[in-house]
This record gives sequence, C-alpha cells and structure tokens, in this order.
Amino acid sequence: PDSLDFLRPGIHFTPVAGFMNDPNGLVFDGTQYHLYYQHNPKAAYSAEICWGHATSHDLLSWKDQPIALHNTPEGQAFSGCALLDTENTSGLFDGFDGPNIVALYTRSLPTRQSQYLAVSHDDGQSFTSYESNPVLDIGSPDFRDPQVLWHEPSAQWVMVIAEVDRHRIGFYGSTNLIDWTVLSHFGPAGLPTVNYECPNLIEIRDEGGKRRWVLFVSINPGSPMGGSVTQYFIGNFDGRAFTPCDGILRLTDFAKDAYALQVWSNMPDDEAVSIAWMGNWQYCQELPTPDWRGVMTLPRTMSIRQDTHGYPRLVQVPRGLEPFRQSLLSESAFSLNEASRREIGLPESGAIELVIRLTAAMPRPVEHGPVGPTINRFELAFANAGGERLSVGYDVPSSQIWLDRSKLRGFDHAFFTGRFSAPVDTTLYPDRRTLDLHLILDGCAFELYANQYLETATALVYPEQPFDRLYLSAEGTDFLIEALEINTLDKTME
Ligand code: FRU
Repeated sequence: PDSLDFLRPGIHFTPVAGFMNDPNGLVFDGTQYHLYYQHNPKAAYSAEICWGHATSHDLLSWKDQPIALHNTPEGQAFSGCALLDTENTSGLFDGFDGPNIVALYTRSLPTRQSQYLAVSHDDGQSFTSYESNPVLDIGSPDFRDPQVLWHEPSAQWVMVIAEVDRHRIGFYGSTNLIDWTVLSHFGPAGLPTVNYECPNLIEIRDEGGKRRWVLFVSINPGSPMGGSVTQYFIGNFDGRAFTPCDGILRLTDFAKDAYALQVWSNMPDDEAVSIAWMGNWQYCQELPTPDWRGVMTLPRTMSIRQDTHGYPRLVQVPRGLEPFRQSLLSESAFSLNEASRREIGLPESGAIELVIRLTAAMPRPVEHGPVGPTINRFELAFANAGGERLSVGYDVPSSQIWLDRSKLRGFDHAFFTGRFSAPVDTTLYPDRRTLDLHLILDGCAFELYANQYLETATALVYPEQPFDRLYLSAEGTDFLIEALEINTLDKTME
C-alpha cells in the first residue's frame, strides 16, 4: 500500500513520532492515570532518551502531554517510577495541596547510572529535580530502573532496582525517599542472561483472595524465544528480602514482544494493573514504521491462579474494553469440519476483538506414546488478498496452541521469528478438549489470551497490506464452536 498508516494501532498506546520503549512512572493520582515512557521524540531509535507523558481516565484513551523529564548533561532519563507522597514523607511538598507526585528514575551516563528524585507541583506535567541528587549511587555504570512502593508492615518506602550485569535485584529502604539503605539482594535467579532490567514488585491477590508478592524481572538478551522477555517470581516479601515460594521459572508471555512490564501505583482497591512495552531489543529499532516505533500492550488486570499441578501462575486479562466494543458478529453452537471452512469479512480499519470457545469432537488420545499421523486441529487466520496469513491454532493430539506470524511479508529480520507455541491445560474442562481464545488485532499489535487467561502471547505483526478477512477451519476432526464473538474496538465510540 502507499501508506503504512494501517499498521498504527488505534486502542494501543503509541508515540506520535519517534521511538518509545519502556513504560515508566505509572501512577494514579486520585483523578487520572499517568503513563510516562522512554522516548526519543526526534528519531525512531534509542538516543537522548527522555520521559514522554500521557494521561487518561480509563487507561485506554490517552491524552498526549509535554515531555516530563528531559535528556540533560546529567544523563539520559532512563526508566523509573512515580508515586504519591501523600504524607509528605520527603518534606518536599510543604504548603502544597497535592497531588504530591514524586518520580524516582535513573540518570544514565556512559560511565555512571545513578538514581534521581524529582517532584511535580503541576500534576505530573513537569518535574523539579531534587537539589541534592543523586539519591542513590553505587558507582556503577549498570545500576538502573528503580521502582518504589510503600511497605505498610515495615512502615518504609522500598526501592527495587536492577544491578544489571551482576544479575541481581537490589532492595533498598527509606522513610523519606531521599536517604536509602540497602536491605537485601535477590538473584541470580531464573534464566541465565546478559542483563537484568526493570524490576517491579507488587502484591497480587490470588483467586482465593490471598495476597502474594510477585517480583517481575525483565531480562535482555536471554529469552528462550530470543532477545528480551519478562519473567516473574511468586513468593514473600517481609520488608527486607524477597523469598520465592518455589524454584520455578515463569514468563509472562509465550511470544517475544512483551518487555519491561510495569505496574500502576496507588490503584483504587489495590487492583494490580500492568502495562508492558510491545517490543524486543533484537529488532525494535528497525521496525518497518520509520517515523514512529513502539507500542504499549493493553492495560491488564493481574491475578494469581493455581494451575492443575498446584503451582501458582499469573493470570492477565485486558482491562476496560467494554465501552469501546461494537459487535460485528455473535454466533453460538455451530460446527466446523473439513468441508465447511468459514470465511468472515473484516472491516477495513480499526481494532478487531475475537472471543471464541471451541471443542474438538475427537477425544484426545488417552495415553501418551506415539501420536502417529493423527492430525486434529483448528485454525483461525487473518488473511488478505496478498496471500498473507496471521494464524492461531489448536493442535488437539499434542494439546498445544500456536501463533504463526511467519506468513507476513512486511518485516524481514533474522530475529523477527515467526512461530510460538504453548501447552494447553486440558484439565480446565471435563471433556479435556475445549479451548478458550481471546484475540485482539490492532494495526501492528496482536494480543492473544488463551486457556482462561493463563496463557498470553503478545506479538508485533507486519503484513504488507491490511487483513480483510478471517478464516476458521478444521482439519482431521470436527470442532464445535460453542461461541464466537467478533467486535470492533473503537476509541472514538466513547
Ligand atoms: C529496558 C531498558 C532499561 C533502561 C531503558 C533505556 O528496556 O534498557 O533498562 O532504563 O530501557 O531506555
């Protein structure tokens, strides 16, 4: 096509121009949500990084705001957090009636990364640098991405920060956000890797209402899928140290474009809401949109669920989409077989949401052992007249789902690999061959939630031309489509 405009998402946040990577400074100030982000407004690659800014009342409709923290001779404004110092523990808000927004972030120079504090007296629009910065400096060129939270039981602020190339997370304590003392270190843990980045610590309720501490640690490169990935540990934090509940390694995603996951601070009802950067350092600076690069995931509400093996796992559900939904199609109880492929036309523009529940007619093999040539699979494909396909499938004999972006031609890069798969928890349904899928396709942003939100795949997708149809097909066995809903998600509908 003449223009790459169709690749620009509508309901996912993107920068107007230039480069965007990590979300930063996520805070609800009592009235609105803030999203700051790593940004180069001048060019679509990482350089002279500052904090871009947007505000929202629903985490989906964002209003662009001026640059909040600039690149200065003290260093680039690297990742960090924002919080409300409601009790004025810092003493930096005397005589000010709030909201008392504080940013804690990394100033990055080639030889040194140190932690800076800044306060805002205009509702997060601009920040004044604390006069005696840095507030934390260990003399390292690889010490960054502070996240700070109030830990009520120990009555202190806790900073979680990456000692990047020492492969550990530092925990620091403070009562005034200015003077920090080391509490403990966590790691090396999880995947062996080059760099640890963007740690985030949050208490998340499990589905029984019990609160669990979850530590997110982004690593780069070292992902099993290649490049960058967000891993997480579930455990306990006692005000001093984080102790994982088991030795299990968990990733937030089974594709490779969900990095630097961050959580909102000061959320009403302690709701655990995250957003991540849809990107991977392997190719984020070469993406085929030369004027802008970088997409945020949808905001996601997080909870913890015990899987069938008894292990706690993260559940991620896209948040707040209802007001933007317009139904295109809603059907139930129809069957799909090899002779009855379905073709559904798609609107020319706008985000598409698809929710489907299906059950294979063929029972899955009872015993393990050679599967032989048995092919029983369901496939759903976004397609266009150019023969490109973005497909998602369910392989019944092996109980796996897949996502395949390899048949798109808009981005050719050695690391932009095409296929991702994950096991399906077959015990979720008594028949052991049912699958739930929730998909969102929005320009170059594709999100897949499966298996009652236990599996998430976040993938950038670059077709050469827009998708204009959807195919549903079955191979080897019939599938009962118990429910199929296709919606558009349109921000201008609000
Ligand atoms: C993660 C990261 C952070 C750093 C920022 C720089 O993607 O490398 O560690 O603060 O991006 O833009």
